[in-house]
Amino acid sequence: MLNSRPIAFEKSAPLLEVKDLTVSFANGKFLPVKNLDLTLYPGEVVGLVGESGSGKSLTALSIMGLLPHGARMESGTISFQGRPLHLASPNDRRALCGRHMGMVFQEPLTALNPVLTIGEQVAEIFRLRQNKSPARAWKLALDLLTQVGLPNPAKSMESHPHRFSGGMRQRVDIAIALAQNPELVIADEPTTALDPTIAAQIIRLLKDMTASRGAAVLFITHNLRLLHDLADRVLVMYAGLLVEETGGDLSSPLHPYTAGLLQALPPRPSEKRPERLIPIPGQPPAPGERRPGCPFEPRCAQKLPVCQETTPPMIEATPGRKVRCHRQAHA
Ligand SMILES: Nc1ncnc2c1ncn2[C@@H]1O[C@H](COP(=O)(O)OP(=O)(O)OP(=O)(O)O)[C@@H](O)[C@H]1O
Ligand SMILES: [Mg+2]
Repeated sequence: MLNSRPIAFEKSAPLLEVKDLTVSFANGKFLPVKNLDLTLYPGEVVGLVGESGSGKSLTALSIMGLLPHGARMESGTISFQGRPLHLASPNDRRALCGRHMGMVFQEPLTALNPVLTIGEQVAEIFRLRQNKSPARAWKLALDLLTQVGLPNPAKSMESHPHRFSGGMRQRVDIAIALAQNPELVIADEPTTALDPTIAAQIIRLLKDMTASRGAAVLFITHNLRLLHDLADRVLVMYAGLLVEETGGDLSSPLHPYTAGLLQALPPRPSEKRPERLIPIPGQPPAPGERRPGCPFEPRCAQKLPVCQETTPPMIEATPGRKVRCHRQAHA
């Protein structure tokens, strides 16, 4: 796989463009997302990875206009198909996001209606959004729930959500997001409760179902390995900052943090390294902790003296590959 964005995407206008997004809590004392730039083109799958607390969900919620109470968009612009979402009224934004974007939330139970069966909830979308007859809608729902790997789908459709495990509910959420036929799907950790084979199957399904229609997927996960060869691009986030942007081939990361994330995962069968996992030493900065320099510096085995003094800028290392690291900037 190439390390730069495939040529086909270059030709089309961006579907989603986020520029200089900064989110704050506590009146600006804590910035969980800092100066983030993110562009999604029709048909691509982009992964967003980082440890817990790096700001992935708040980035997704900013795009959807669903920031939690106390969070504020401090700066930035968010455009969808050229329309500035950040300037839209709450009603217009809700309508626009509802019509064009599907989100699979990190907490699956909250998105499902407890009083309706799974079948009713998925089939209803086909009926209302795509004007299908009840029988046809039920059949389409059955097909989709089979594709997302719901065991015994015909029987499961007659059940209510509380009977399902977290993993099952996540698959239903994914089916609901896809049934809406959105131009953009944001999937926030939709696979944490799933085993890696099913998780890879889900990303492939999202990729097939969206790419063929020119829709795009923003896939958020802790597990960098999951994105290997499935994502067209991967964005790596640390302490609210994007630190690396690369293609789907993750075999030669440029940022020490990305390398650390990969080392912390179990090796793939083809890899020649010991089974032992190598965790990244130390902890990310605490919320609100402010210090000069690169936020990864205290944990970095490759730090330079300059890393303590200034935050490195994001530089384009090679076409389509960006990295925020003084070592690369000085290479
Ligand atoms: N409602 C909130 N009030 C205060 N702080 C919050 C709130 N939501 C998130 N945060 C903080 O903002 C930071 C980023 O949170 P976010 O949920 O975006 O992280 P994440 O990368 O999605 O992590 P995870 O992988 O655990 O889901 C964290 O330090 C988190 O504690
Ligand atoms: Mg999250």
